[in-house]
Order: sequence, then structure tokens, then C-alpha cells
Amino acid sequence: MTKIITPTDNAIKQAAQILKSGGLVGMPTETVYGLAANALDGKGVARVFEVKGRPAFNPLILHCASMEMAENYAEFNETARILAHHFWPGPLTIIMPRKKSCAVSELVSAGLDTLAVRVPDHPVALKLIEVAGVPLAAPSANRSGSLSPTTPAHVSEALGNDVDIILAAGACAVGLESTVLHLSEQGPVIVRAGAITAEDIETATGLKTVYDTGDKDKPLSPGQLLKHYAPAIPLRMNAVDVAPGEGLLAFGSIKFMGVRGAGAAKDLPPTMFRNLSENSDLHEAAANLFAMIRQLDNPAHTGIAVMSVPNQGLGIAINDRLHRASS
Ligand code: TXA
Ligand code: MG
Repeated sequence: MTKIITPTDNAIKQAAQILKSGGLVGMPTETVYGLAANALDGKGVARVFEVKGRPAFNPLILHCASMEMAENYAEFNETARILAHHFWPGPLTIIMPRKKSCAVSELVSAGLDTLAVRVPDHPVALKLIEVAGVPLAAPSANRSGSLSPTTPAHVSEALGNDVDIILAAGACAVGLESTVLHLSEQGPVIVRAGAITAEDIETATGLKTVYDTGDKDKPLSPGQLLKHYAPAIPLRMNAVDVAPGEGLLAFGSIKFMGVRGAGAAKDLPPTMFRNLSENSDLHEAAANLFAMIRQLDNPAHTGIAVMSVPNQGLGIAINDRLHRASS
């Protein structure tokens, strides 16, 4: 059975240690319980997607202990600063550009150039982030398609042993996911409704604020919002060899992979070749996916040949993204 524990100082230390070693923690927040991973650890984040059972990579929210911490990762503009001062800690998630040198795994933002960030208003969540010393990526701690958990028992029933430890802090005060806000050039747009309303945002900023929400978990995309990065050169899936000039995105051993008329793939120059996971580990492959596609997306290459990735577990979301990048 999953360990459901009272969040004493020692328990929080233990949970922080689990996060630092790639594990998952059921974390209380004021909105709903989150399934938290170290946002700087791509493999830990990959495990979140695996446990959620999402067939695609949706971007996750970055949880920070303070605005100062968030400024290490996201580019705040004037409006974002006002909002953060006004509503953090609290149930407002702000979408901002990723900082250039941002150390957050690209899997958290699912390859987007933006990050959704919030500071949760819950002493246990804040303490956990502080003790771990890293920001946490945390979607609601339920399987994809089920209700969000607002008690520790919900988390344990939904996820069983797939979560390493649950910090039990009773029922969540808000009980509804945070408001997700996009700061567009025309003004703030709420892409997921939550406890903080358009009126609240208008009062704080003096800016006209509108709703553009579709499904709760699938916000409509105002403009470019959820328009995912796609490589500028063609991407070819299930490649069994490499064409001259193509970069190679490998998965597993390339011992027997050839370059048409020009020898072995293993002898390609380092700039033309990345391996998602030499050991065919899907967690590692998911963690590397977005960064490696970008590295190979180079006008010097005629395209990217991608070896096949098994279509099971995390492989389903990996193939979904590769497929979208290829068309
Ligand atoms: O209250 C909450 O926000 C909870 C607790 C645990 O903090 N977390 C939560 O996370 O609901 P999740 O992953 O279930 O929802 C994230 C939402 C999704 O609607 C996602 O599309 C949106 O935020 N989102 C995340 N990053 C985004 C980005 N860069 N651009 C646009 N939308 C983004
Ligand atoms: Mg959710």
C-alpha cells in the first residue's frame, strides 16, 4: 500500500528526498491534491505522465515556493508581477515565457516556449518545495479522465502504489483547480476557470479580462497558446535507415542501422545524431524528446529520421507527439 503520512517535518524531509530521487509525492494544495515530481528531472516528470495515463503530453503547472523562485524560470512582465503580488500564494496560474536558461525539463511545458506557474497557498506544499529546493511539476493526482482528488483517500484510491508517498493534510479548501491565465497582447485571457474570476483579475490589474475556456483540461487556444512547436524540417517516423543528409533520432541500439550508401549510423557526426534512450527506457526517452527534436531541427539537415518507439505506456504519448511533428 502507498504510505499516507501526516506531514511532520520528518515526513516532509522524506517526501523531499523521494522527489530528489525521481519519485512521486501526493501533495496537498489549497485547490486539489497534486501528483508532484521534481520539475528539473525529466525522468521524474515522465513518470507523472505515465501514472496519469495520458495518451498525449499536456503541459503541467510549475509549483514554486515564492515569486523569487519562479523568476528563475519564467519571464515576468509588469502585469504578471502585479498579479503575482496580488494573488500568490493562491489559486492563480500564470502562463509566461520560459526563461532562456530555464532548467525546468522541457517535458513540463510539453515543448512549448511558455511555462504555467503558480505558488500554492498551502503550508505543506510550500514547505515541501522549500525543503526539496526545486520547483515541482504537479497535475491533479488522478488518472486521466477521472475527477480531481480533494482528500488523501481519493489520491490513494486513484493511484495506489503508483504514488510513492501521500502527505495527508485533510480536505482541500478550494476543491477546484486553479484559474489558468494567459497574458495576451489584447489583455488577460482565462483559459481555465477557477476560484479567481475575471472580475478579480480586472480589479487587480485594471485590464479587461475575458474567458476562453473549452474543456476543463483542454483550454481552447487563443492564438498561438497551445500551438506546439513543430520542426522546420521533415520528420520521418519508423525509419530503418538514414538517408544522406538526414539527422537521426534513435531509440535503443543503432548497431545495425545504416546510412544509405554511406556506412553505419553510429559513425554519423555528433551534431547529426541523438539517442532518446540507448537502453530503450521510455522514461528516459520522454525526458529527452523535446530537447532532442530541437537539437536535430537544423537547416543543415534534410530531415530527421526517427527510429520506431514501442506504442505502449509512455510510448503512446511519445508517438503521438512524433506523429504530430511529422505531419
Ligand atoms: O489547482 C491546480 O492547478 C492543480 C494543483 C495540483 O495545483 N494542478 C492542475 O494541473 O490542475 P493540471 O496539469 O491538471 O492542469 C494544468 C492546466 C491544463 O489545463 C494545461 O493545459 C494548462 O494548465 N497549461 C499548463 N501549461 C500551459 C502552457 N504552457 N500553456 C497553456 N496552458 C498550459
Ligand atoms: Mg487535472
